[in-house]
Amino acid sequence: MTTTALIDRPEAPVGPPRLGPADLRAAQARTLDAPRLRYGILARALFKMTDLAYGPERGSVKFAMLEFIARVPYRVGCLALARCRRRSALARRVFERIVQTRAEQDNEQWHLLILQDLAQRRGLRQPFLRHRLAPWLVALCYYQVSWLLLVIRPQASYRLNAEFEDHAEHEYMAYVAEHPELDAQPDPGTYAAEYGQYGSLADLFRQIGHDERMHKLDSLASMSAPRFGQDEAPLGL
Ligand SMILES: [Fe+2]
Ligand SMILES: [Fe+2]
Repeated sequence: MTTTALIDRPEAPVGPPRLGPADLRAAQARTLDAPRLRYGILARALFKMTDLAYGPERGSVKFAMLEFIARVPYRVGCLALARCRRRSALARRVFERIVQTRAEQDNEQWHLLILQDLAQRRGLRQPFLRHRLAPWLVALCYYQVSWLLLVIRPQASYRLNAEFEDHAEHEYMAYVAEHPELDAQPDPGTYAAEYGQYGSLADLFRQIGHDERMHKLDSLASMSAPRFGQDEAPLGL
């Protein structure tokens, strides 16, 4: 098999693992017991701005805005990786990273669709200015920052994404802990075929939180070998 044939082969991206009810509860407990990462100035500014714009309370509408932004680093990553494909010696590894990055981008897209669906089902208003235009502008800035960091200092770009994912992981798990009534509310299963059907809304949020943990670990692993041609060091996490 030639390298070219391998690269062109269509391959279904594999997303984060889907967990059963007991594992989802264990994942929530593990997240809530773990300290958050130490966030840098860019991440703290982003989180502060979202708190100011959308309020400190956790909820579907605020989560949807964060998911809108969360896709950005993966788009940047796919573009950057596509540029590396011509380097045949690294082609297979680049291809594998592209598959992984696209899987994470798709996963974030499902999160966004699920949260928008939940917000609509709850009749929550999403005014155009605050919930369409503002996230788009923030995503545009985040795109430029991610791209610049990836070019001049890839480790900082992956670290920023890891901090964003860590924040999301803790926010989802804390939200479930704050709202025990979610355990009695059914998952509407609007995207069950693509994302799975869960026993309750609480488990749906726990699954999303666990996905964010997987994204975080992948970004932290990427920090150890941010440029192709370097071997990744084990994280021991
Ligand atoms: Fe997400
Ligand atoms: Fe994520």
